[in-house]
Amino acid sequence: TIDVSDASPTVRVHPTAEALSRAAAAMFVSLGQRAIEARQRFTVALAGGSTPQRLYALLAEDAWREQLDWSAVEIFFGDERAVAPDHDDSNFRMANDVMLAPLAVPVKRIHRMPAERADLAAAAADYQAELARVFRLDVDAAAPVFDLVLLGLGSDGHTASLFPHTRALGVDDAWVAANDVPQLDTQRLTLTLPVLNRAAMVMFLVTGADKANVLAEVLEGPPDPARLPAQSVQPAAGLVYWFVDEAAAVKLSRPATSCGPTTGS
Ligand code: 6PG
Repeated sequence: TIDVSDASPTVRVHPTAEALSRAAAAMFVSLGQRAIEARQRFTVALAGGSTPQRLYALLAEDAWREQLDWSAVEIFFGDERAVAPDHDDSNFRMANDVMLAPLAVPVKRIHRMPAERADLAAAAADYQAELARVFRLDVDAAAPVFDLVLLGLGSDGHTASLFPHTRALGVDDAWVAANDVPQLDTQRLTLTLPVLNRAAMVMFLVTGADKANVLAEVLEGPPDPARLPAQSVQPAAGLVYWFVDEAAAVKLSRPATSCGPTTGS
């Protein structure tokens, strides 16, 4: 059971990335079942990058897919690279190849960020309008409440495409932002903190030794959110779960829940 009054994030350490992915799949399915039972749909923002690929592949396997009514899942994205949707770097393409196409998720339930457009500010505004439509909100209302936001952690402390010291970190009057990322010499679309911090549940997936230092800084270091954007993800009325593998957890000092390979929610 889950205690919403406990503001501190829950950190779960899994022996391997595979065990972590299985536990995350179990929680994804359980959250989805509950949301669909309560509200006839499950609203999710997917993470890009490499870490969630195994989770997505698992969800498309028969044993997992049968547990969720995928026609009732509304799929959004937390961020997108400024490339075409069939590009190797596209977060949509990754999720589509590994999960959405194999699951035959109805196209009308898949809301990809149109980050290939030349005018990214207009693309951000259009994605906000799409969120408003699906969540049945006015575009100037408080941000939508996602049932689940999946996030990763970059070794520089970024999450979604909220990179250190970038403009989108300070956006408090929009749900979606075009973000210049000078450190990568690129641009991205990203959900903003007002959306991430309205989520009912945020699941961070973090694996590998190259994340160990930054994970300890984000979770246990002094607040420095301009340098460590992931520190700013603190939903006011939601829960944050960190799914971490042992390699990424080695620098953590405080006791965390250790989980066996089959532990779910
Ligand atoms: C992206 C992301 C990004 C990602 C982190 C971690 O588009 O790249 O959504 O925020 O989650 O960079 O990426 P890895 O899982 O590949 O380490």
